[in-house]
Amino acid sequence: MNDLSRPDALLPLRVSALGFRHRGQSLLDGVEFTLGPVGRTILLGPNGAGKSLLMRLCHGLLTPTSGRIDWSLGGASVAFLRRRQAMVFQRPVLLRRGALANVRHALSLQGVGRAEGKRRAEDALERFGLSPLARRPARVLSGGEQQRLALARAWALRPEILFLDEPTSALDPAATKSVEDAVLDFHRAGTRVVMSTHDLGQARRLADDVLFLCGGRLLEQTPATTFFEQPQSPEAAAFLRGDLVW
Ligand SMILES: Nc1ncnc2c1ncn2[C@@H]1O[C@H](COP(=O)(O)OP(=O)(O)O)[C@@H](O)[C@H]1O
Ligand SMILES: [Mg+2]
Repeated sequence: MNDLSRPDALLPLRVSALGFRHRGQSLLDGVEFTLGPVGRTILLGPNGAGKSLLMRLCHGLLTPTSGRIDWSLGGASVAFLRRRQAMVFQRPVLLRRGALANVRHALSLQGVGRAEGKRRAEDALERFGLSPLARRPARVLSGGEQQRLALARAWALRPEILFLDEPTSALDPAATKSVEDAVLDFHRAGTRVVMSTHDLGQARRLADDVLFLCGGRLLEQTPATTFFEQPQSPEAAAFLRGDLVW
């Protein structure tokens, strides 16, 4: 998690002139922003704006076609950076094995030893109310339980930064609430949170600041209160009114 005094901190993250093209089509263009070491940033924008792409690029799952993604810790390999980050997807990506084993596997990939891995995995399941399901195959868990397991796995990894891509869009209100509570727990524990959502109520509840994307361009990076009360771009104003047809 974030210790601002540590010399090898990943943050701030500086994204400059970032572009992603695919088959001649520009999907992200000229995206520039900085993420400081603390806070919760919510990514907003209409469907297809490039929110998922942007997070996948930052998490190192895709390579930009132009521009730069510079972590404060320069010169580290993608594999090294990935070990200090975690990502949670709309549909949890889980292995065909038990809940506890999923978390232990992620820790062993990070080089955490067996005894320490077992302890951290059990703690994480406990924290997310999953201990009774520890041996159950992850694939038979409910959607809400699977998402809690994905969060427990991320928690066990103690990431400096956590990317969440619409983590509640397939969940009912109770499961959504537990994901929102988890986001607050990560924040309190010092993890930098970056999350996309299409739920504006959720964005208001969770955001410290907002990145607003539209058509592959970043139109705003604004403190949340400013964004919701006085959006700077006409596109954001239309988006907040529910009028943005894209
Ligand atoms: N890995 C990829 N390769 C090529 N095109 C992609 C990839 N991922 C997404 N896209 C395209 O990029 C655009 C933005 O997608 P996405 O980032 O998923 O939008 P959002 O998450 O804001 O709804 C869409 O047109 C989508 O089809
Ligand atoms: Mg998306």
